Amino acid sequence: MNRLISTTLVAFAFAVGAKADGGSIVPGGNWNDTKGAAINAHGGCVQYADGFYYWFGEDRNGMKCNGVSCYRSSDLYSWTRVGLALTPTGTMTDENRDIAKGRTFERPKVVYNATTGKWVMWVHWENGSDYGQAKVCVAQADKIEGPYTLVDVFRPNDHDSRDQTLFLDTDGRAYHICSTNMNTNTNIALLSDDYLTPTATENLQLLGKKYEAASIFKVGDIYYGLFSGCTGWTPNRGRYTYTYDLLGQWVSGNDFKDQDGSTGINFCIDKGKDNTYQSQSAYVFPVQGKDKCFVYMGDRWNSGNVQSSKYIWLPVSIRSGYPAVRWYDSWNLSIFDNMYRYKRVAEVEDGGEYCLLERNSDRVVSRPKSSLSLEDDGESNIFFVFHKTDIPYIYKIEEKATGKYIESLFGSLRFQTEVDKDTQKWVLVLEEDGYYHIQNYSDGACISVSGNETMAGTPVYLNEKDKNIHQSFALYFDSEKHPEYVEADMYSKSYREKNRELMAAQDEAMSIEGISGSQDLYSDIAVADGHVTISGMQGSTVVTVYTVSGVYVAGARGTSVSFDLNPGIYLLRICDKVVKVRIS
Ligand code: DGJ
Repeated sequence: MNRLISTTLVAFAFAVGAKADGGSIVPGGNWNDTKGAAINAHGGCVQYADGFYYWFGEDRNGMKCNGVSCYRSSDLYSWTRVGLALTPTGTMTDENRDIAKGRTFERPKVVYNATTGKWVMWVHWENGSDYGQAKVCVAQADKIEGPYTLVDVFRPNDHDSRDQTLFLDTDGRAYHICSTNMNTNTNIALLSDDYLTPTATENLQLLGKKYEAASIFKVGDIYYGLFSGCTGWTPNRGRYTYTYDLLGQWVSGNDFKDQDGSTGINFCIDKGKDNTYQSQSAYVFPVQGKDKCFVYMGDRWNSGNVQSSKYIWLPVSIRSGYPAVRWYDSWNLSIFDNMYRYKRVAEVEDGGEYCLLERNSDRVVSRPKSSLSLEDDGESNIFFVFHKTDIPYIYKIEEKATGKYIESLFGSLRFQTEVDKDTQKWVLVLEEDGYYHIQNYSDGACISVSGNETMAGTPVYLNEKDKNIHQSFALYFDSEKHPEYVEADMYSKSYREKNRELMAAQDEAMSIEGISGSQDLYSDIAVADGHVTISGMQGSTVVTVYTVSGVYVAGARGTSVSFDLNPGIYLLRICDKVVKVRIS
């Protein structure tokens, strides 16, 4: 009997059309609505109102557009079709200002206007034959699900507008963001108070980068943007931007360069990342009741039959300070439960226990076997105890599990019993975004990511400091083990400002603190352009050269040693004496 009941329940769960296996999301799977019909909502967005998520998208019949569909769900797994939110109506006009059947409606986006009490929809509009019109269709409704009635079809501020999205800020201002100038640049325009038209407050972003498929979301004071490149229906590598000022300068990393010259750092970090897991971004929406938890909505386009295109929805993590999208064959909302368990520490404390989160992979330095690699959160993550030394910013770093200290042994990263040697001392060189270069005090070697890879299993090793190698790690604590630790305010606008001050203070402190020692160990230091010579040393003495932030530059031994140096300020360490010199 019991068995009969449970069998019936399972059958029912599938019968109501949960699009996956009854409470999970299967990216790229066959997603059906509660009536068992394939969900038809492409290039869309998801909004939340009154206890329901509403999914809007392009309703297609093959390549033809039927308008904008709307589906409703309380759990993001099971979707009920509400119907068409925007229905083509009227006849085609020569002015191309209609929403007649046969027109093209792409990338519909919907926001709520709290002032007017209306729901507002913006859609990329084309004439149905080609992509030459590059207009938007604006419509509004009294209820989220519609029906939406046409306000107008136009080119915003007379610019061409193709891939487009809306962003509603926390202050109630809304923005239209689109690819413009034949997809060369991205335009952002502040909308009028009713959200129905763009104002004159607008500017061009990402000049010449040819970004498409903008999806904007906000955490704290930071606005993130996910984009694709511009290759029609064919997927390409995703890339992200961030800014603290939407109408100001958007930052897009330059460490990747496509063949077409476009740049930006990939937000995908797993196998399949080179083409965004065969998808193109459509939208990023927040999960209700879960702080900093977002879903990436992408389309795996079928260029010959857009109707049958699949949906790629994946969780977005921004715990690294930047968006990271991992691949999951199947996932559910519980994925978010532990997403922010590791938190960035506000300040490095003596004796604090931290793991090292790598900037580009969102992954943790780990030791699944004897050697180090980047791994997802789990047992193999290494927690280190950071021990302050007498020199500011310089730490000894102990692996908590073994009590061994990390050491640079002739440039190789080793775990050794504690010794009082510089090879076990590490300079934490702060960067603006709160990451550190972790550089050995003795030989200057930095903890580095092999091949700049981001996938789990990527080896971590020592290499010389090089801006082309991923060498940035931030210190995170396990908030379940250490709820008393203070989390960094890393999504606030002031975070980077404060870090810039700390970086200046680090330079300053290293130079002041470093000038110490009692003995006269040399007779002369001669500084010339690009050159310094220390002479008259007793016996064969080791001299090491550091930058003012404590980064190793060079070393030599003798009674008289010389260094060729680039212009700048350096610290010369001669036994226990440190002398500051300026090379011009
Ligand atoms: C790429 C865009 O992102 C899609 O929305 C669609 O317009 C295709 N181009 C058409 O080629």
